[in-house]
Amino acid sequence: MTDKWPDWLPLRESLRSRTPYGAPQVAADARLNTNENPYPLPENVARAIEESINAVLTGLNRYPDRDAMELRKALVGYVREHILSKTTLDVPELDEGNVWPANGSNEVLQSILLAFGENVAGFAPSYSMHSILTEAVGKSFKAVPLKGDFTPDLEVLKGFLAAKRPSVFFLTTPNNPTGRSIAIEQIGLIAGLVASHGGLLVVDEAYGEFSDQQSAITLIDEYPALIVVRTMSKAFAFAGARLGYAVARREVIDALQLVRLPYHLSAITQAAALAAIGESRLLLSEVAQIKRDRDALAQSLSELGFDVTPSDANFILFGGFDSFETIKGWTSERLWRALLERGVLIRDVGIPGTLRVTVGTSAENDSFINALRAIATA
Ligand SMILES: Cc1ncc(COP(=O)(O)O)c(C=O)c1O
Repeated sequence: MTDKWPDWLPLRESLRSRTPYGAPQVAADARLNTNENPYPLPENVARAIEESINAVLTGLNRYPDRDAMELRKALVGYVREHILSKTTLDVPELDEGNVWPANGSNEVLQSILLAFGENVAGFAPSYSMHSILTEAVGKSFKAVPLKGDFTPDLEVLKGFLAAKRPSVFFLTTPNNPTGRSIAIEQIGLIAGLVASHGGLLVVDEAYGEFSDQQSAITLIDEYPALIVVRTMSKAFAFAGARLGYAVARREVIDALQLVRLPYHLSAITQAAALAAIGESRLLLSEVAQIKRDRDALAQSLSELGFDVTPSDANFILFGGFDSFETIKGWTSERLWRALLERGVLIRDVGIPGTLRVTVGTSAENDSFINALRAIATA
């Protein structure tokens, strides 16, 4: 890989052996590999977005609102109405100063890494972009292993925090790629531990809408060094538009302004997101269906004889290939490829002996189960 880059290119040494991140974008009948919402936007939502975008088109000669104030107000409204209204816990008073939107939550995560700390850590396995972004901005990432059942080991965490004192610690709930979520009491404990060593806890809730757990947004009054990152890419069926956001105490959000690019969020994106938030109820209407389909898919996988990690998200991690004579000893890559040959694209997330499947439409889920059954029980 090192040979690939010419000598005259002053590429940073730490990037020379890298390849760009990304799931394979290959054609398949059932694309169940990137945890998107499988349902297209309803026609009337698409029309509302179109009208909202049309209204800003003649103003594109000017830069957009750098602070995205209207969008931030709308996001606060969404958080209050759809996230905090479900909790029985005390909820923080929020206004637009507590929210920061960007082009997908990946950009929010990158801003966090640009703004805070030098040494960064997080549980593993988890969302690989946390470590990739950390290293891309020139910082080091250390992983704290989860237990065999993919739950955190607080004793291991305590020892790690005392020894390494990371300034940023990532926790993803529901976790990707495992699907497991962490109860709010435990997130509070972890926030307290991270803060006691001078660190900021980043809670990545990209899949929060699929979970029955309380959001860590409820904790920001009690634990100021905490930032919650959410996205419209998953439950909201809005991945193509690119809109993620952070919710935190005002001081934390203010610090992100120090590293943001001027006019980072185009007028078109702001207009599209505003219209989509106005249609939240409709856009989120498939979430309940996806959760039911997830549970049915998990059951089908178990009934077939696979090991299934309990999921609180819109995807499922499964393993136990060795229980089947036909695929005994197969690597994840081999089973992944066999499924692809049958038109079903899922994800090899790099955990040996497992694969991750995104919950799709009923027809896609059936195609996946039928293909898997045919391969494993041939
Ligand atoms: C845990 C987690 N966080 C963040 C993201 C990034 O999402 P986006 O940049 O589309 O908001 C993803 C995408 O798969 C994810 O799984």
